[in-house]
Amino acid sequence: MDLNTRSNGNYRSMYKLIQKLLFLLNAEPAHNLGLFGLKILAKLGLIRLITPKIQDKPIDMMGIRFPNPVGLAAGMDKNGDYIDCLGALGFGFLELGTVTPRPQPGNPKPRLFRIKQAQAIINRMGFNNKGIDHLVEQVKKSRYNGIIGINIGKNFDTPIDNAVDDYLFCFRKAYQFADYIAVNISSPNTKNLRALQAEDQLEKLVKSLKNEQKNLRTKFGRYVPFVVKIAPDVTDAEIKAIARIAKNNAIDGIIATNTTILRHGVSELKYGQEVGGLSGKPLKNLSEDVLKKLILGLQGKVPVIGVGGIISGHDAIDKFDAGAVLVQIYSGFVYRGPKLIQEIIMHRK
Ligand SMILES: Cc1cc2nc3c(=O)[nH]c(=O)nc-3n(C[C@H](O)[C@H](O)[C@H](O)COP(=O)(O)O)c2cc1C
Repeated sequence: MDLNTRSNGNYRSMYKLIQKLLFLLNAEPAHNLGLFGLKILAKLGLIRLITPKIQDKPIDMMGIRFPNPVGLAAGMDKNGDYIDCLGALGFGFLELGTVTPRPQPGNPKPRLFRIKQAQAIINRMGFNNKGIDHLVEQVKKSRYNGIIGINIGKNFDTPIDNAVDDYLFCFRKAYQFADYIAVNISSPNTKNLRALQAEDQLEKLVKSLKNEQKNLRTKFGRYVPFVVKIAPDVTDAEIKAIARIAKNNAIDGIIATNTTILRHGVSELKYGQEVGGLSGKPLKNLSEDVLKKLILGLQGKVPVIGVGGIISGHDAIDKFDAGAVLVQIYSGFVYRGPKLIQEIIMHRK
């Protein structure tokens, strides 16, 4: 056994042990404790114990060079409190947030559920976050020098007709500190948010952000791309409209997809009927279907980040084969740990 194989074996068994202990807890305390533990490991300089060896596989998208195509999806580090430790795990980029203009507590607990048999998660967190100012402070303080996306949303009590103001507010605050900005209009846990995906609303939002991007580019002398994150629960007509708006307005990219309100493959399981967004393995086919239709509509003019149901290296390859330039993981990372990053990169030609 060479040193690499042995250290791979070590981090795997270490991660498995940590995961076993965490899975004894309810999902949200496990999430918090897991991230806290990671921070401690990083502080003690021991993060290597759970970090696989990651090969560089640089790839360009939106004028940014990503060291590898595997990103952490939004929602894991909503406030930027864990940038340095998550950044040490080998991700090609981190997407932080969703953050809103003002801090808000999110929905009452319990609001996060593991469905282990299905390698799935249901969440109705409801954008619990400390607000954009806190996140920006964390980014400024962090020592991580990798790629950072900042994912923005609207406060739960902002009327949907004023949603554009919330996005513009966060966009301005995030601009200088992000490599790209992700505009989240697809969480199922904020009332009416997904209505922003409708043609008229989306066009209005995108035009406002594009205009602001132009102003900020002049002001700061730097172009920061923005991507729109869409739901998997969209009709074919909606996908076509989204693709058309993206092309016509030169959106920099699209993230497909967020969680689903459908309950494919989990409805009979414990927690399978909880309200919220379903992610993980049962989301894969639905998400991929939307990805393929979107890619078709975009005609190669707008790049796409594929996310939803990636639990193995093969799952990620399916997304790349469908035309995704980058991928992101959330549930797969919870179930498989940092090893999944390595596995995807090894499968990628
Ligand atoms: C607990 C949890 C919280 C999430 N929070 C956010 C969020 O704040 N913003 C967002 O855009 N997506 C959020 N997501 C969605 C993920 O970023 C991702 O799009 C989705 O989970 C599908 O990927 P997966 O199957 O790899 O988990 C969240 C997902 C989970 C499981």
